[in-house]
Amino acid sequence: MLDELRQQLDGIVNDAIAAFADAADDDVLNQVKARFIGKSGAVTALMKQMRDLTPDERPAFGQAVNTAKQAVQQALDDRRAALRTEARAKELAEGGIDVTLPPPAVPRGALHPLRQTEARMLEVFAEMGYRVAWGPEVESDFHNFEALNFPPDHPARDMQDTFVVEDGRLLRTHTSPVQIRTMLANEPPIRIAAPGAVFRCDTLDMTHSPNFRQVEGLVVDRGITMAHLKGTLQTFASRLFGRSLDVRLRPSFFPFTEPSVEVDVTCPFCDSGCRVCSQSGWIEILGAGMVDPNVFEAVGIDPDVYSGFAFGIGVERVAMLTLGIDDIRHFYDNDLRFLAQFG
Ligand code: FA5
Repeated sequence: MLDELRQQLDGIVNDAIAAFADAADDDVLNQVKARFIGKSGAVTALMKQMRDLTPDERPAFGQAVNTAKQAVQQALDDRRAALRTEARAKELAEGGIDVTLPPPAVPRGALHPLRQTEARMLEVFAEMGYRVAWGPEVESDFHNFEALNFPPDHPARDMQDTFVVEDGRLLRTHTSPVQIRTMLANEPPIRIAAPGAVFRCDTLDMTHSPNFRQVEGLVVDRGITMAHLKGTLQTFASRLFGRSLDVRLRPSFFPFTEPSVEVDVTCPFCDSGCRVCSQSGWIEILGAGMVDPNVFEAVGIDPDVYSGFAFGIGVERVAMLTLGIDDIRHFYDNDLRFLAQFG
C-alpha cells in the first residue's frame, strides 16, 4: 500500500513539472500550483489515504508527502524564474526600455504635524533666547513631585492619575521635572525650553489623551516678575499663531508656582461655543506661574536673590489651534489621508 502511494506521489510530481513547463504566465502557474499542492489539490487528496496505512508506515508516507510538495514548489520557483528571465531577455531584444523616461515618483515623507508644531514652538523660543533642555520620560518621584512642592497626599500622586513603573519610578506626568534637573545642574541665569512626552491616566476624548507632549519653559534670574511672564506668553502666542487670537490669564493653582495661572486662547472653531471648547469660547493651552520659593529651596537656589517664572504648554492643543484640527485623536490614528495634508 505504501509503495503504491509513493508511486502515485511520484506521478503527481511529474505531472506538476510538465504542467508548469506548459504554463506561460503567473496566473496559470498559480492555477497549476493550486491543482497539485493547494488545499483541494492532488497531494491533499492523496493524504486522505493515510488512514489506510499501518501506524508504522505513516511517518514514511508523511515524509514522502513533504518531499513531493517541496519538489512541486521547487519546480514552480524554477519555472517562474525562467519566465522572468525570458521576459526580460525579450524586452531587451526588442529595445523596449526607454532610458529617457522619468523614474516612478517616490512619495515623500514629512514630519508628523505634532513634530512640526513642536519644532515651530521651539523656534519661537530660540528667537527669544531660550536653549533647549531634555529630561527622561521615566522619572523619579523626587523630580516629578517632591522637589516640585507636591505634598505627599496630593491627588496627582495617586496611581489613578500616574502610571507607576515596577521599581517605584513613574512615567512623568508633565515636563516640569526638567525644571528641577536644570536648576540642580546650572546656576542662574537660566532660560530653557524643554519639549517631551508626558503620560497620565486620562481618558482619550476630543481634547485629552493619556500620552501627549508638552513644552516646558523656565526663566530664573534676578528681578524676574509676573510682567515678564505675561509679556513672554503674549509674544510667544502672537508669533506662533501669526494672527490676533485673544489670550486670557485665569488664576489657578500648581504646587510649584505661586501665583499660578492657566492661559486660554479664543477658540478658532466657533464664535460663541462649540463641542471643542466645551461651549466656553476658550481653549486652554498652558499652565504657568512664578516659581514657588519652596522649589528654589529644594534645588539650592536662594529665593531672596532670584525669582523666576515657568510654564508648560500642551503641544497637541497648540497644533489643534494652528492647524484647525477639531479632534486630538486624528493625531494618533496614523491615517495617511490626514497626515498627507501637512507634508
Ligand atoms: C501642567 O502640566 C503643569 N506642569 C504646567 C506648568 C508648568 C504650570 C510650569 C506652571 C509652571 P496642566 O496639567 O494644566 O499643567 O497641563 C498643561 C497643558 O497641557 C494644558 O494646558 C493642556 O494644554 C495640556 N494638557 C493637559 N492634559 C492634557 C491631555 N490629557 N491631553 C492633551 N493635552 C493636555
